[in-house]
Amino acid sequence: MGARKQTRPKGDAAASELRILVLHGPNLNLLGTREPEIYGHTTLADIHLVMAERARAAGVLLESFQSNSEGELINRVQAAASEGVAFIILNPAGYTHTSVALRDALAAVDIPFVEVHLSNVHAREPFRRHSYFSDIASGVISGLGSQGYELALEYALRQLSLRAQG
Ligand code: DQA
Repeated sequence: MGARKQTRPKGDAAASELRILVLHGPNLNLLGTREPEIYGHTTLADIHLVMAERARAAGVLLESFQSNSEGELINRVQAAASEGVAFIILNPAGYTHTSVALRDALAAVDIPFVEVHLSNVHAREPFRRHSYFSDIASGVISGLGSQGYELALEYALRQLSLRAQG
């Protein structure tokens, strides 16, 4: 997908509209052709479309952002705070296992997030078992393929409507 995709519900977004950011780390732009036996055939654009449709039905603004660059991901997380993003769904990809700096950005903005992995990182090479994000995430979904993103979105929507009422 392009670096940035945004899908608004019908009509223009009100300033108070709930926003969810979906962040994809390095090499996830190759989904569909990248090791399909591990990551499946679904592309990032397919994932975005399904999520955007679901978010629109719930009246939530959903934006997806993919980057192969650690700095760009960090900048996007920092911007999310000033944009009033209420929830983040994050697949840090390879940075899961390496990036203290991206972890620090998420801790700094204090926006709740769910960590998603398409593959079951615990059933793969030992170095994939450690995540710099899991202990500060609301939860982790790993091994459910692209459905993991949809389940994370359902969780986020439930959390947001509970918070909006509370
Ligand atoms: C991944 C798992 C990571 O270990 C890997 O580096 C990825 C994708 C997943 O979605 O399964 O790039 O995050």
